[in-house]
Amino acid sequence: MSAILENVNIAALREDFPILKEKVYGKDLVFLDSAASAQKPRAVIDAMTYVMTAQYANVHRGLHYMSERASEAYEAVRDKVAGFINAASRDEIVFTRNATESINLIAYTWGRTALKPGDVVAVTEMEHHANLVPWQMLRDAHGTELRIIKITDSGEVDWHSLEEVFADGRVKLLAVTQMSNVLGTYTPVERLAKFAHAHGAKILIDGCQAIVHRKIDVRAADADFFVFSGHKLYGPSGIGVLYAKAEILDAMPPFMGGGDMIAHVSYQKSTWAKPPHRFEAGTPAIIETIGLGAAIDYVNAIGMEAIAAHEAALTEHALAVLPNIEGLRILGSAQDRGGVISFVMKDAHPHDIATLLDRQGIAVRAGHHCAEPLMGRLGVTSTARASFALYTTCEEIDVLAKGLERVRKMFA
Ligand code: ALA
Repeated sequence: MSAILENVNIAALREDFPILKEKVYGKDLVFLDSAASAQKPRAVIDAMTYVMTAQYANVHRGLHYMSERASEAYEAVRDKVAGFINAASRDEIVFTRNATESINLIAYTWGRTALKPGDVVAVTEMEHHANLVPWQMLRDAHGTELRIIKITDSGEVDWHSLEEVFADGRVKLLAVTQMSNVLGTYTPVERLAKFAHAHGAKILIDGCQAIVHRKIDVRAADADFFVFSGHKLYGPSGIGVLYAKAEILDAMPPFMGGGDMIAHVSYQKSTWAKPPHRFEAGTPAIIETIGLGAAIDYVNAIGMEAIAAHEAALTEHALAVLPNIEGLRILGSAQDRGGVISFVMKDAHPHDIATLLDRQGIAVRAGHHCAEPLMGRLGVTSTARASFALYTTCEEIDVLAKGLERVRKMFA
């Protein structure tokens, strides 16, 4: 077992993930689909079990001991998230169901109040549907315009296209991924934020993929909005985060109405709680939020720098090994890229690749990866995609390469 992580024993670390011992068709599981959703360490599983076993009650509603304890545990995660992404205040952290809900929340509330018909939202060609469709819906309902910034053939933001899109001064929001879930490209978010701000626009950073692999600093990036999902960060599904600068959140109307998001309610009218509670109507995902807190503790204990170094080595290994397979083509060649690698093979459809790899115990994703327009830009209809996590090893990448060699022979 490789031990790339400095001072960390990968074999020992893999013991933290019980699922990695599962067999698939009698073979060792080689899980290379962590960009879709990551596996969970025992610490997360235990934290969630503990809440349900000993700590559970509804939050913010009871004056009894159990509710207070659950509320404290839930609210403590807000502090953890704020620290993890370096937000200025815990009140800038809103819990949602996932990054998709976070972006929809922004589009429905900020989008319909801060933007006027004719204002422009700009996204890049490599956005996930979650950072495209809500802006189409806003355009159709509210009369905003949606513009698409091109990417280069290497899979990076095309700066000329960016300048063109911003040229008439009507762009009010740049909504951009920090790491493509298809190409693995990191975008230069600090530079993009400077550019957007210099042109009078705000920036929304979709951090779903990046937050798993890199230290995030929303203040260094000067992000106006930053969103991510818990389940890719080794936490449970059902919990996501919306970060926005305090003054932006303060001015935003609620997304959903109900309990916990109000200050006062009468039959005639209601007034709203301050952020973040204004945006957390109804009983929240208490257990999942506490699970996310455990996931953050877990990655913090290993250290984001160590994780990033490990994954950079994995990526380098994959980029050296996979192109040796005849007929295999990796999509994108950005300088700054991480462990999400999409590829196609001559004569083998991505779905066939994934199915044949699956029979060998290797899990990869195949399809358009919720980025259908990007497929068109890349000149394909779908790709196969291998994605890495802190528990991935170079040996697993070698198993993938051998598996792909078998696929190639079958289709030769
Ligand atoms: N956005 C996730 C992926 O890329 C689901 O697979």
